[in-house]
Amino acid sequence: MKVVVLGALGQLGCALRESQPSGLSVIYFSKQDLDITNATELKNTLLRENAQYVINATAFTAVDLAETEVEKAFAVNASAVEGLAKICGEAGIKLIHISTDFVFAGNAYAPYKPSDACSPLNVYGKSKRAGELAIAKYASDSSVVVRTSWLYGANGNNFVKTMLRLFRERETVNVVCDQVGCPTLVDGLANWIWRVCKEGVAVGVYHWCDAGVASWYDFAKAVQELAIEKGVLTKRCNVLPIYSENYPTAAQRPSYSVLDTRASVFSKADTPVYWRENLSLMLDKLKEEISNV
Ligand SMILES: NC(=O)c1ccc[n+]([C@@H]2O[C@H](COP(=O)([O-])OP(=O)(O)OC[C@H]3O[C@@H](n4cnc5c(N)ncnc54)[C@H](OP(=O)(O)O)[C@@H]3O)[C@@H](O)[C@H]2O)c1
Repeated sequence: MKVVVLGALGQLGCALRESQPSGLSVIYFSKQDLDITNATELKNTLLRENAQYVINATAFTAVDLAETEVEKAFAVNASAVEGLAKICGEAGIKLIHISTDFVFAGNAYAPYKPSDACSPLNVYGKSKRAGELAIAKYASDSSVVVRTSWLYGANGNNFVKTMLRLFRERETVNVVCDQVGCPTLVDGLANWIWRVCKEGVAVGVYHWCDAGVASWYDFAKAVQELAIEKGVLTKRCNVLPIYSENYPTAAQRPSYSVLDTRASVFSKADTPVYWRENLSLMLDKLKEEISNV
């Protein structure tokens, strides 16, 4: 089976490459190889590769920047996805597209199910929702949309790496405690996507994230505790909880960003791992990389 991965150098793209299962022929395209906003090049490339699956791991993911770079966010997350959906729909290519918990308003009291009403709070969420709707319109018979949340991994920039840097540089770090979600190691998402390619699932919208719930403050505290335990950090700093109102950001973020993954668990192998266990694995990997330098 032949698979095309778009967005090869992002967090997910890298995790997909690292965990690529045997028996699949996979071609990876970074933004430098293929800019998905170039509709003609996108179409020519996908038709030439003649793959059974396309995994779209591209996105404009700078949530705060999207508030001012609205056109750019919509170009990548919505218009280009619409083009991709049309190509896949017409050519019968199966599309696996990644979306976000930010399509929800975050005012629920129970984990969001895939069928729950979407009402994004910020430009990034609106652009990703527009991408989802384009897929529903043009490739509903051949697409799997998987929403995930709070992604991090050993490759790329993310909350864990930012916290490690701040813990090294500062005496005190304030972290928001009134937004909760599901920190998710990108490796588990990559494995879930590969299983979808190999085994197939019904078309539709799915949720995938690690198990458990944490605030950004809980997450930061866990990063510090585990990093000290593993020797990734050598000094402790004060980590203090603050409210979102005291940490203004350009984009408004959902307070409750918890995804219900039950409909995405097809076998024991799909059962999400508790987020702290996966954080521990990621820090082990970082430690290995540091000691190899
Ligand atoms: N990160 C999170 O916390 C999070 C949470 C929920 C959902 N998601 C979703 O999960 C998916 C993967 O996220 P991620 O964290 O792996 O994102 P990422 O690390 O930001 O990677 C996205 C990749 O897409 C590339 N890209 C951007 N514009 C492109 C274009 N026009 N053509 C081709 N490639 C382009 C980027 O290249 P450049 O870096 O060179 O621009 C980058 O390599 C995305 O759909 C994202 O919306 C992410």
